[in-house]
Amino acid sequence: MRNILFVFAFLSLAIHLFAEDGSRLWLRYEPLPENIATHYSGKILYISSVNSETGKIIEKEFKEAFQAMTGKNLHSAKMDRGKNSICFEINKKLPEKYTIQTKPVKNGNYISIESADDKGLLYGMFHLLRLMQTQEDISNLNIRETPSYNRRILNHWDNIDGSIERGYAGASLWDWNDLPGTISPRYTEYARANASIGINGSVLNNVNANPKFISKEYLLKAAEIAKIFRPWGIQVYLSVNFSSPAELGGLPTSDPLDPAVRQWWKDKAKEIYSILPDFGGFLVKANSEGLPGPQDFGRTHADGANMLAEALEPYNGIVMWRAFVYNATSPDRAKQAYEEFMPLDGQFHKNVIIQVKNGPVDFQPREPFTPLFGAMQKTPLMVEFQITQEYLGFSKQLAYLAPLYKECLQSDTYAKGKGSTVAKCTDGSIFPQAITAIAGVANTGNDTNWTGHHFAQSNWYCFGRLAWNPDLTSEQIANEWIKMTFTNEPAFVEPVRQMMLDSREAVVNYMMPLGLAHLFAWEHHYGPQPWLAIPGARPDWMPSYYHKADAEGLGFNRTTTGSNAVSQYFPPLRDRYNSIETCPENLLLWFHHVPWNYRMQDGNTLWDELCYKYQAGVTSTRQFQNIWDKTASYIDKKRFDEVQYKLKVQTRDAIKWKDACLLYFQTFSRQAIPDAVERPVYDLEELK
Ligand code: GCU
Repeated sequence: MRNILFVFAFLSLAIHLFAEDGSRLWLRYEPLPENIATHYSGKILYISSVNSETGKIIEKEFKEAFQAMTGKNLHSAKMDRGKNSICFEINKKLPEKYTIQTKPVKNGNYISIESADDKGLLYGMFHLLRLMQTQEDISNLNIRETPSYNRRILNHWDNIDGSIERGYAGASLWDWNDLPGTISPRYTEYARANASIGINGSVLNNVNANPKFISKEYLLKAAEIAKIFRPWGIQVYLSVNFSSPAELGGLPTSDPLDPAVRQWWKDKAKEIYSILPDFGGFLVKANSEGLPGPQDFGRTHADGANMLAEALEPYNGIVMWRAFVYNATSPDRAKQAYEEFMPLDGQFHKNVIIQVKNGPVDFQPREPFTPLFGAMQKTPLMVEFQITQEYLGFSKQLAYLAPLYKECLQSDTYAKGKGSTVAKCTDGSIFPQAITAIAGVANTGNDTNWTGHHFAQSNWYCFGRLAWNPDLTSEQIANEWIKMTFTNEPAFVEPVRQMMLDSREAVVNYMMPLGLAHLFAWEHHYGPQPWLAIPGARPDWMPSYYHKADAEGLGFNRTTTGSNAVSQYFPPLRDRYNSIETCPENLLLWFHHVPWNYRMQDGNTLWDELCYKYQAGVTSTRQFQNIWDKTASYIDKKRFDEVQYKLKVQTRDAIKWKDACLLYFQTFSRQAIPDAVERPVYDLEELK
């Protein structure tokens, strides 16, 4: 016994000495307190009929994690379902993806993890480990899990040169130069982290796709990555450039109705599957932001998508065709995806799914959901979220995004009456669909801590967890993430969880409250530039296109007297948005041009309310600093210091946002900033 205790003490020490740099993410497997650890003595691991690579992974991961957490060795045994055993078993008849159950056996019980395939067992294993990590009671389990979406995919906006579009955590994880010869150990770590949260697909390259990615040279590189991902249940997908037949294949055209072009894609699909036998499919950005597409040849999105779908069909590949389209000349960018795609509903091949950003403009801190959800009823749709914080302060600011994702997924479209949420309209429960999927634009890079900000890891984590089950609460997810990533200590968990839960709204408040959008600085999208006006630039890339500030008021009139974007929503939502009285205040300026002296629900004028919102955002960031400073004794110094520094930057930047927006909008409102609001510390001219 003393020996065991000694080993355990040594092990915990070794683990504590292991530098905490964020690289271990939520898979740290910290030693459990002695009183909990003793429950695990004498446990035996039994893995039946799982003789695959995945089976080996399960055995290794589980044994190592178990030992790290309990200090006890887990013996693999042939013994079938004995007392105290933890059994991983294939059960072909299981309707759920996996179950974890406590089952009786002579003189005691055992834990049974079952799935119809080894990937389900892998998920089951991570689930059980999560329960242990978060110190949940595992003495009487009856867990049945099935994911809401079949395909849970990360989109990497990674380029061939190693840069990442909108990436804030270093360079790309994929070393294209060194592949296929040299394999970074991080590919395995990446796959493992994803598997632990149920992610099962990865689009390796940027939607602004270089045609080279589907050249033989690059397919061979991607195949090496796929080989590593495979046992972790992760399928590789690629973004393709619509002009590839011309640019890569040397054809005179890329017209989707041209027989030679169609044949080129068929041959390409054949080649891809000969190199990547379980290739997932294509992600396509077409006729958007200058990228080529079928409309260049007078064809429709359906013509383009269907051509690719037919090429992939023999191999069970899919096409994720993006609906992110907007013209420079459109009077309301928020309407365009609906206008272009609704007429095509029902015209897409069965292995096409339309990938739609959560909001109709572009991943703003707050947008209503894109009205295509619920409206396109004869075509499968998938939600695309942005995990990387292009519009929420990069990896410099703390913004826990589960509340944003959930806000969209739980929005009621009313497509088939009350309760037709975006989640239900896309997971096959309202509209039967052969493919169900969800995507998140990844925030990973080659930074040691993967995501730049330690707390940005929680966005990768919560995306995976919500892709599996959108009904989980933001709070539950934050709770488990904090415990696994930092500590189970309630004095740490509780305030930090509150900080996370408040963080997205804080960003909305100091950047774009009350439904404002796109006040960002040109190109980099970090700081404020509501005044931006570049002669000759695309009007829909200028903030004034969105805020429409003038002497009368602020906001974009999208009601029936304006752009009529409200008409794209089902009643009663349409009417709720259309009326200034019933429009939710957090979307007021998205749908209405509101007079400066309009009385808000709390009696404040719009101007005063706007000022208070900006102030509330700044106040929150100061509270975050306060909360964090009290946590120093619970965690390692390195992560504490790094987060502390970033919170300081966040407060500074929140003040800049507040001053810039209020001083600029004040030039229209011509009203004083209320007394209760901190005086500006910057001058408008200086900020400009
Ligand atoms: C945003 C982003 C671009 C990206 C685009 C897309 O506009 O700023 O960098 O390419 O979205 O989603 O395609």
